[in-house]
Amino acid sequence: MTHTFAKKLGIATAAIALFATGSAVAAPKVDWSKVPEAQTTLFYPGQTSFEWVQTGTDHGGARSFVKKGDRCAECHGGEQKDMGEKMVTGTKAEKSVIPGKRGSIPMKIKATFDATNLYMRFEFPAGAHTAAPFAPGGKMDAENEIKLAMMVDPGKNDLQTRSGCWATCHDDNRDMPSAPAKDKLAAAKGIDVSGGYVTKYLADSRTAVELSGAARGGWDKVKPAAEVEAAVKGGAFMDLLRWKQGKNVSEDGYIAAERVMKGGEGVQFEGKKEGANWVVTMTRKLGSAQPGDVALEAGKTYTVGFAVHDDYTAGRFHHVSVDMRLGLGADGDIKAVKQ
Ligand code: HEC
Repeated sequence: MTHTFAKKLGIATAAIALFATGSAVAAPKVDWSKVPEAQTTLFYPGQTSFEWVQTGTDHGGARSFVKKGDRCAECHGGEQKDMGEKMVTGTKAEKSVIPGKRGSIPMKIKATFDATNLYMRFEFPAGAHTAAPFAPGGKMDAENEIKLAMMVDPGKNDLQTRSGCWATCHDDNRDMPSAPAKDKLAAAKGIDVSGGYVTKYLADSRTAVELSGAARGGWDKVKPAAEVEAAVKGGAFMDLLRWKQGKNVSEDGYIAAERVMKGGEGVQFEGKKEGANWVVTMTRKLGSAQPGDVALEAGKTYTVGFAVHDDYTAGRFHHVSVDMRLGLGADGDIKAVKQ
């Protein structure tokens, strides 16, 4: 009797927690003071697309990245502050400068896991508002002061695993140098361009991607849907988790032929400003059978990348990490310890 009652009570408590957070994951509390901290610096990437990083005339590291098998982080880990300064001031690869914007954001990251979930905690200083001259009221996304996103790589494509987020960022994406004119978008097949632009995608989903010339990328060369779907099931995707601060919305999506912000097992973010810093926590189930989700396993290391849309920005006007390694009870830049 007591057992059944406790069980019922347990279910009721879980249901209340679900209702309160509006999310599919009800998470236990984590004692973050016991979890080791990693530090990194997110930087302003400007218009440095996946085509840009592979082109020698644009990028000093192109050959080493494409031919020698180097990871971005091997050359750039530690110099993100200087790099961000170049793009944010328009010295390099940035046409739409936002005056006064910071070039980089230091971030502290903690990760831990138990038998069911991965838990992460992000802390970074809030920035001053610097109005974007090209956005109404200076704010590109007036609803969200910040957004935080994490990509997780399934580890099936070498270039993707060595570059992280860059594999999804193309020269013909929104506000990028080769973005197709709105009246050309009707030619798009197999992707949703109703927003007036092409979202992130992976080269795997295209029959060809142009690396150089005036129109780089492969927005209009989407493979047939059945091929893309089969490829996603085989791991040709990038898992994408995102928190939108304004209305406290957590999204679990993925990128393949385009960005899809739904369909995953679910994720739950919570965040608030504590003094001068933003503190955001995340709970995500380790395992998942949903297409577009990486099923995480203890003992393995994954390539991950992080982005913060600071100060009401949208689209490419964000700060990003270089590719990082997240080890679940394994080695990595971020070592997730088992609870
Ligand atoms: C072999 C080393 C190496 C690798 C690997 C490498 N880069 Fe670079 N990267 C460079 C060099 C050299 C420059 C030019 C720096 C300069 O002009 O001062 C550069 C410049 C950049 C810049 C412009 C900012 C700046 O400081 O000039 C960005 C952004 C960038 N790289 C991103 C990447 C990304 C993303 C990857 C992985 C896809 C990558 N790099 C891989 C060496 C490398």
